[in-house]
Amino acid sequence: MATYPLRISRRRQECDDTASLWLDVPKDLTSAFSYRPGQFLTVEAEIDAARVTRQYSLSSTPGKESGLRITVKRIEGGRVSGWLVDRVKEGDLVEVQVPRGRFFKELDQPHHAILLAAGSGIAPILPIGRWLLECGQGHRVTFVYGSRIPDAVILGDELAELVASHPETCTAEHLMSRADEGWSGTRGRINRAYIEGRFAVWESSSALPIVVYMCGPEGFMDTAESTFQTLGIPLEQIHRESFDMVLSDDDGEPGLTVTGTTDPGEEGTTSRIVAVVGGEEYEADWEEGEDILSALIRAKADVPYSCQEGTCSSCIAKLTEGRVEVRPGVLRSMRQSDLDEGLTLACLSRPRTRNIRIDFDEI
Ligand SMILES: Cc1cc2nc3c(=O)[nH]c(=O)nc-3n(C[C@H](O)[C@H](O)[C@H](O)COP(=O)(O)OP(=O)(O)OC[C@H]3O[C@@H](n4cnc5c(N)ncnc54)[C@H](O)[C@@H]3O)c2cc1C
Ligand code: FES
Repeated sequence: MATYPLRISRRRQECDDTASLWLDVPKDLTSAFSYRPGQFLTVEAEIDAARVTRQYSLSSTPGKESGLRITVKRIEGGRVSGWLVDRVKEGDLVEVQVPRGRFFKELDQPHHAILLAAGSGIAPILPIGRWLLECGQGHRVTFVYGSRIPDAVILGDELAELVASHPETCTAEHLMSRADEGWSGTRGRINRAYIEGRFAVWESSSALPIVVYMCGPEGFMDTAESTFQTLGIPLEQIHRESFDMVLSDDDGEPGLTVTGTTDPGEEGTTSRIVAVVGGEEYEADWEEGEDILSALIRAKADVPYSCQEGTCSSCIAKLTEGRVEVRPGVLRSMRQSDLDEGLTLACLSRPRTRNIRIDFDEI
């Protein structure tokens, strides 16, 4: 997919291994780079003679600040995170794709949003919280943020300001897993015991229906998701964003069906795929056994993708015509209700009808 060189206007070290980078958006690209809270940028870079792409959530809030901001944690031995945290400086140009992702779902009535973050998972969580508090729809927000030690809290000043400016509707609970005796707050991790212990307090703090957004390591999110379900929160009200490159172990499991919004068309094994990206149409002939993304890449369609294995969410798209079979691993990052709306990941989908039309803009 097309990339744009955006200039780094500011850099701030958040803690020893994490930095925030602000990117200027030229006036003529304002509309292309408009975004929703919780979306991510795909950064492309040439590092050690190899072209690499990685996703970084926008930690800025749409409409609240100019430009874009990402907040990157250096992974031990990590190529792109190491480059962004240690080598990119103010004034440099960084190649990025336009924002994508569908972590945040608009809420049509006031909710109590419980926002769980661990470590750098605060990056998409903070703007979702700010957006909900400041959109004027009467939402309540509880941040629950787990860090190792107080010095490892990322964007803590902004979180504190948000709580201070919305004293009636916003609270933040910090947990430290490895704090020394100087820390007088809560110790430990956001686990089943913590969520079960706090749930009655969260529930009684407002009569609003609860919705949960979470971002952090997979294991933490699996536990939190199952705990909230046990406590009566339906899966459709629990949303998660994963930074981990965990492959789905869904071989042999039956595929799921996604149907387009118009006539599914004739069943068949030879398929013609039309993809809409950036307002342009691309066509590809499907070859038996391949996924839709591979067919489009083969046809040189300018589609967004990165991992090609269902972990990064870059290739999310809406099926507008036809029917596809999608690998069940799609449910790691999407809900059945998303599939019911016709959304799918192109890299996990195979055509089941002769005509397929898939729109990468309409997500
Ligand atoms: C939708 C999405 C949003 C993301 N948002 C952010 C963000 O806001 N901030 C941020 O810091 N990161 C974010 N990530 C993670 C980011 O895209 C990279 O995966 C991460 O920076 C590692 O890339 P790398 O090139 O530095 O490491 P690589 O060179 O790819 O990997 C180096 C080593 O680290 C391991 N590794 C790779 N990724 C991770 C990981 N995420 N956690 C632990 N170990 C890993 C690899 O297995 C390998 O052993 C996001 C990922 C996704 C899919
Ligand atoms: S390309 Fe990463 S999820 Fe499809």
